[in-house]
Order: sequence, then C-alpha cells, then structure tokens
Amino acid sequence: MSDSPNTCAAFELPQAVLDRFAREVAKYPDNASGRQSAVMACLAIVQQVYGHVSDASEAAVARYLGMPPIAVHEVTTFYNMYNQHPVGKFKLNVCTNLPCQLRDGYKALHHLEAKLGIQMGETTPDGLFTLQQSECLGACADAPVMLVNDRAMCSFMSNEKLDQLIDGLRTAAPAGEGQ
Ligand code: FES
Repeated sequence: MSDSPNTCAAFELPQAVLDRFAREVAKYPDNASGRQSAVMACLAIVQQVYGHVSDASEAAVARYLGMPPIAVHEVTTFYNMYNQHPVGKFKLNVCTNLPCQLRDGYKALHHLEAKLGIQMGETTPDGLFTLQQSECLGACADAPVMLVNDRAMCSFMSNEKLDQLIDGLRTAAPAGEGQ
C-alpha cells in the first residue's frame, strides 16, 4: 500500500489508477451518466491503492468522472465499505441496528471495546484492529453479527466467539504485526 494522498485539492491520481478507471468507465454507456455509473468501482480502486478514500482522492474521482465532488462524497459516506480514514489490518464492523440491538449487538460491540482496549471508531495502537458500528448487514436473524474487512460475515457472535475471532486474527497476522 503506498502513501495516502493528503487533502490537497490539486492531488493527481497516478496514470496506472486512471487506466483502471478507464476500464471501469468502458463498461457503461458512452455518455455522461454512464461515465458516472463507474463511481463505486473507481472509489473501490482508490481504496485498494491507498487503503482509504481521502477528500483529495474524492475530488480527483469527481474530476475524472465529471461529477460534483459532493455527489462522490455522498457515495463514499453512504457505504461503510469505503474507509474515509486509514484503518487497521482488520476492520471489524459490528451491526447495532435495532434488530441486532435487541439481540446483543451492543453487548458484542462493548465486549470488543473492552478486549481491544479501544472505543468504537478507533484503531488499536498496533494497527491491527479498527472497530466500527455498522448499519444492517442483512442477517438480522443471526444477531449479533459483524463483518470483517467488508467480506467475512460472522454470525451469532457470543463473547466466546468474539474472543476466538480476535485471538485467531492476531495469530494470523504476519510476524511483527500486533506485537
Ligand atoms: S439489524 Fe443487524 S443484521 Fe440486520
């Protein structure tokens, strides 16, 4: 992962990134709204390259796609798969929407806060874990549920299962990380 861009409005994305954007844009109709349909894919590319989507990156995506910057920002902030700030190696999203609240969603969140020694929204000092709340993950019947790194859904997360998960992820981290 390379250095993240700062918030300089004149930030230019590298040609390799723009080439990837072009391949995404080519999947849609060749007009203004078709071009803008690639916004989610372009933001995902930015996040793959930089680890998060900065204000400067959003502005660069907006320029490339011919969109108002606020329209790109609305996409970034609507989906919590986009990181607006640098995150740890493992991003833990715990659902606290109402159905999960009624079935120990907050208990799971607070257990993780205590185990990791951080508050919701923070990253552990070793850079391994970022803990976040999330909106409904579409698995309400499996509460408490959480998503690891936007991909791995974890269901029925009792305190025991949470402990096993965290210990397993720590063990899986390459030597030197999380020490
Ligand atoms: S409310 Fe938590 S998964 Fe739906």
